[in-house]
Amino acid sequence: MQRLTDSAVVSTLAPIKVAILGAGRGGTALLDLLHQIPSIEIVGISDRDRGAPGLQRARDLHIPVTDRAEHLIGNHGVNLIMDVTGDPTMERFVHMHKRPAADVLSGSASRVLWELVRHESNLQAELFHAEKLAGIGSFAAGIAHDINNPLQLIMGLAENLMDERDVTTIREQAKEIIEAVRRTSAICRDLTQYARRSSVRDDTVVSVNGRLDEALKIARYAASFHDIFVIKHYQAGVEVRGNPDELLHAFVNFITNAVHAMDREGGTLTLTTQQSKETMEVRISDTGCGIQPDTLHQIFEPFFTTKEPGKGTGLGLYNAKTVVNKMHGTISVDSHVGAGTTFTLTFPAVQEGPP
Ligand SMILES: Nc1ncnc2c1ncn2[C@@H]1O[C@H](COP(=O)(O)OP(=O)(O)OP(=O)(O)O)[C@@H](O)[C@H]1O
Ligand SMILES: [Mg+2]
Repeated sequence: MQRLTDSAVVSTLAPIKVAILGAGRGGTALLDLLHQIPSIEIVGISDRDRGAPGLQRARDLHIPVTDRAEHLIGNHGVNLIMDVTGDPTMERFVHMHKRPAADVLSGSASRVLWELVRHESNLQAELFHAEKLAGIGSFAAGIAHDINNPLQLIMGLAENLMDERDVTTIREQAKEIIEAVRRTSAICRDLTQYARRSSVRDDTVVSVNGRLDEALKIARYAASFHDIFVIKHYQAGVEVRGNPDELLHAFVNFITNAVHAMDREGGTLTLTTQQSKETMEVRISDTGCGIQPDTLHQIFEPFFTTKEPGKGTGLGLYNAKTVVNKMHGTISVDSHVGAGTTFTLTFPAVQEGPP
């Protein structure tokens, strides 16, 4: 059995300890970016405004927060102080309180950094959307099949109606036609909703089971579920904090991969959700071809694919990992060639009540 955890790559160098001054949009964006980098440790973030958005974000990430910048600036271990307050008096203040060994990034240098962070997050969003649209291209056969069935039914019923004289039968058949049209428009509605850009609702409490069910519905267009049994082991009411559209897309990617891995001989797709006090776990398990041990470490890399040219972008797992990490979750993979693969996503449990 091959096992891989995406957080298993640990840097051997001591981490760079960073203090962030300012918890507005710039500070929040820096926090979001830097906390994902293993070689950086954020020792704290400060803002005079106790309601600043970055302070709440930091609390969620268990990063110390303060409204007294001098405490952070004078911190012994700090290597780098990043000032994104936009306050022109802060530069002097930092130099008064900082330890000689600490470097400072402020003024236009920190603005440039903030622009880079914003640029990178725009690129990330574009890549995410491009991969989603590329995936939707492969839905064509599934959609055609699902729309064709009700269309055939409508056609048959309409032909019958041409000769039907009995009012009760006419009514019944008209009802069936309406139902068939409703089914067709539901398909179109699901897909147009899925295809649109993700909303920016990053901090929503999301019902995980609902998202998995929705993902199953979407994945049926992308891959043939012929000879595939679906088993759900859902714990009732499990929730996670994040962006519901992005989580849906990540689930679609895991499920589509699982179904593709079973497309030769069929198999079983098992979806499990489980909540404990500290964590919420989602497992997507298949009995498919498995992943070769020598490629296991590459599957989350952008553009890595074992599919034929034109069949896959190789961005599915890369984007799914980006989504999971953004939600402060981790992914581990257990795979056995010829027996199947299980992806386990572990998220922090949603804390009850005001944080
Ligand atoms: N459940 C799985 N079973 C076996 N192999 C898998 C599974 N999930 C992912 N892989 C492997 O990881 C590779 C990368 O997956 P990823 O979703 O990133 O791209 P893709 O599926 O090849 O392309 P796309 O997602 O654009 O269709 C796959 O090509 C496949 O080799
Ligand atoms: Mg994929």
